[in-house]
Amino acid sequence: MPVHVSQHPLVAHKLAILRDKTTEPKKFRELVRELTWLLGYEAMADLATRPEPIETPLEPMTAARLEPRVGLIPILRAGLGMVDAMLELLPTAEVWHIGLYRDERTLKPVEYYNKLPDAATVQVCLVLDPMLATGGSAAATIDILKHWGAARVKQLSLIAAPEGVATLTAAHPDVDVHVAALDSHLNERGYIVPGLGDAGDRQFGTFAGPASEPGHGPDDETAEVVRRLQRELEP
Ligand code: PRP
Ligand code: URA
Repeated sequence: MPVHVSQHPLVAHKLAILRDKTTEPKKFRELVRELTWLLGYEAMADLATRPEPIETPLEPMTAARLEPRVGLIPILRAGLGMVDAMLELLPTAEVWHIGLYRDERTLKPVEYYNKLPDAATVQVCLVLDPMLATGGSAAATIDILKHWGAARVKQLSLIAAPEGVATLTAAHPDVDVHVAALDSHLNERGYIVPGLGDAGDRQFGTFAGPASEPGHGPDDETAEVVRRLQRELEP
């Protein structure tokens, strides 16, 4: 599973502002959109084209048109902020939402929304989620897409942790991963360090969600999940 970390200076610049804790939701959403545009452009560089005869005002020529039907698969909720930029790049793409949230304690993904039809309607699926942390949400989504019949899947995330990349590599070695940055590690709550915090909360301004209420937070079980992932990373 090749992992492509963008080397573009504009990506690095925008990511620095995105990570900054003083960046407000409005600016944060704008940056998610701009970074997705840049990352999406890079991620689609190897899509197949087919020759198509056209006529310019000057003469006939053989032009290139995109060959595969492409599906965008935003993982709710944080992936939503990446959809518009991808649709600007690829207005004919289909958008199939998958709803998953990460159980704060076990860090396992819990599926709550999936309206995929019986058979795949696209050849290439681009999974959109700003954060690839333990990799559980991405791996579960890609399981769903492969059962659906997607021939090719790419993961687009703004920030990944090495633990998440390793999990995804083990589960889906054929999936290309495109990220703006590969960070240092996960903390004991399963958050990417240095990361940017909670991508969903920072986009949507929801800083008082259930995870911050008593009894809903992460505990020793969470830290043990992270330690296990980190042990698996050791050579
Ligand atoms: C975040 C993020 C990913 C997931 C990544 O979503 O957007 O979907 O966590 O973590 P993982 O790699 O460990 O699975 P979250 O579960 O917080 O849901 P939300 O987008 O609804 O806030
Ligand atoms: N989800 C996020 O939004 N941020 C993290 O660092 C990990 C999971």
